Amino acid sequence: MSKVIKNPSTVLFPVPTVLVTCQTEGAKPNIITIAWTGIINSVPPTVYVSVQPVRHSHGIIKGAGEYVINIPSADIAKQVDYCGITSGRDIDKFAETGLTPVTASQVKAPLIKECPVNIECKIKHTLNLGSHDAFIAEVVAVHYDENILDANGRPDMEKIKPYGYCQGEYRTIAERIGTFGYSGKK
Ligand SMILES: Cc1cc2nc3c(=O)[nH]c(=O)nc-3n(C[C@H](O)[C@H](O)[C@H](O)COP(=O)(O)O)c2cc1C
Repeated sequence: MSKVIKNPSTVLFPVPTVLVTCQTEGAKPNIITIAWTGIINSVPPTVYVSVQPVRHSHGIIKGAGEYVINIPSADIAKQVDYCGITSGRDIDKFAETGLTPVTASQVKAPLIKECPVNIECKIKHTLNLGSHDAFIAEVVAVHYDENILDANGRPDMEKIKPYGYCQGEYRTIAERIGTFGYSGKK
């Protein structure tokens, strides 16, 4: 079987689908759906979100220097998609989707109650890479819904039901096929 070479593009899948909340002092909070996100360092715990300057959220995130990454469950995929096709310039996404803002502990932006995991982030570096600005941020607090933690206090993927974005499609992470280091065990 031969390989087919195509033009260079952002072919990496699955990537996470998350809801990022942002807010500046005295203004209403906004929500943006983000797939260009990930972990970039362990100590200190560091993540990034890449946002196009045309997005309403871009100015808010830049101005606030903070944001919250909220990990949605597949159960609210429709609301997540909606936050990615509408702008906070035109609508209040919390009001329109019925999602609930909850006060965070370290940043102004709210957590989203319906998302089982919420990651509070403070921006340390901003990189303009061309089409997007990468907001690289230190994780300053993480919240978990009590009922998604297993007996050992670890997040249970069966209960969280996180899902990925694959080339325009949303896809669940259905099955566990191994665990870290299992290939080396006898
Ligand atoms: C699944 C999905 C992933 C997205 N990922 C990104 C992303 O990583 N960066 C970005 O700038 N826009 C991304 N978008 C587009 C924004 O979410 C969209 O333009 C949104 O309407 C912006 O909202 P705002 O104007 O309120 O900031 C994504 C949209 C969807 C549906």
